[in-house]
Amino acid sequence: MTKRVLDLGPLLRDSHTKVVVICGSGGVGKTTTAASMALWAADAGRKVAVLTIDPAKRLAQSLGLEALDNDPRRVDVELADPKGELWAMMLDTSRTFDEMVAAHSTPERAAAILGNPFYKVISTSFSGTQEYMAMEKLSTLAATGQFELIVVDTPPSRSALDFLDAPQRLSSFLDGRMIRLLSLPTRGVMKILGAGFTLFSKAVTTVLGGQMLHDAAQFVQLFEDMFGGFRERAQHTYELLRAPGTAFVVVSICEADSLREASYFADRLRAERMPLAGLILNRTHPPLAKLPLPAAEVAQEKIERSAPLAAAVLGIHTDRQAVRAAELHMRARFDRVHTDLPVIEVAALASDAHDVPALREIGRRLTAA
Ligand SMILES: Nc1ncnc2c1ncn2[C@@H]1O[C@H](COP(=O)(O)OP(=O)(O)OP(=O)(O)O)[C@@H](O)[C@H]1O
Ligand SMILES: [Mg+2]
Repeated sequence: MTKRVLDLGPLLRDSHTKVVVICGSGGVGKTTTAASMALWAADAGRKVAVLTIDPAKRLAQSLGLEALDNDPRRVDVELADPKGELWAMMLDTSRTFDEMVAAHSTPERAAAILGNPFYKVISTSFSGTQEYMAMEKLSTLAATGQFELIVVDTPPSRSALDFLDAPQRLSSFLDGRMIRLLSLPTRGVMKILGAGFTLFSKAVTTVLGGQMLHDAAQFVQLFEDMFGGFRERAQHTYELLRAPGTAFVVVSICEADSLREASYFADRLRAERMPLAGLILNRTHPPLAKLPLPAAEVAQEKIERSAPLAAAVLGIHTDRQAVRAAELHMRARFDRVHTDLPVIEVAALASDAHDVPALREIGRRLTAA
């Protein structure tokens, strides 16, 4: 059986591809991959925006992102095809929430909501807010029609569920069930929230006080008027994620924990009927030379004394062969479960990928199928 290779070049170049969502566990290279793909597509002549989340400082600088900025900025880079454009932004979660409130209410109401202590807690610490706001921003950017392609990075969710459930969770949250809980007397609130919403109850504790009931009542009233709009919006975002022009790509490194999460992502995306394009196996270690392991070990032993430097180089080669063997084992295990999921391997660069040349190199490797 030959495994299908993930062919990202045609996907990124295709004018039907409008949104690419990158997901995966923490630290695997999501932000780097998102930026590399966006640059590659811009080099190919498309007008592209990349929405990043907490990029490494040096990567942000390379993209001209000096501070959190909730609107995409054009990246000052000479592209292979001058028709292309690269835009980039860093997501500001609480500002995106503010903008969403403003879009669904009058200026006076928006001001009252933004000033309410419950709002502050919810917009910054309700679990899933960052995931939801990333999708909200995607939705707003897509609606402007300003870009041919939007590449979306996702937060390092502890659980894949957080990310996939965000639209629906926020929508049911905004349905008022939780907010109605807030308008119960304090003890009742703590009892109910304490049972299942530890994170949230902790957040509520921070605003408990004499003002609480008043604030809660005001908050419920102000928010209730916006529920309809919010719900519609969450539904719209969810549908955009499922639309034919959207592709999900899962990123993983070739290690057990990361692949387990990748596996889970793949299953969840399929179960939700989200358009999953394939898996990127990032930072792999293909052999440096064609010399097979036993021959290299024999040679290394033979020249240990006469040519210690050469022997040391061979040593690096044999170590790497061992790493590779472990990677191939991991990959085979994954492939056996996800037989028809296309995969592309991206070999690790010698150093971190924080500047434009490194992003281009990763872009080349990503599209080398
Ligand atoms: N193929 C690669 N070769 C070498 N370094 C890489 C490669 N891919 C990513 N890196 C480096 O690995 C580090 C983590 O990458 P990145 O920030 O993109 O991961 P992430 O999945 O977005 O992390 P987080 O979950 O924290 O957001 C960065 O320093 C990046 O430069
Ligand atoms: Mg990241």
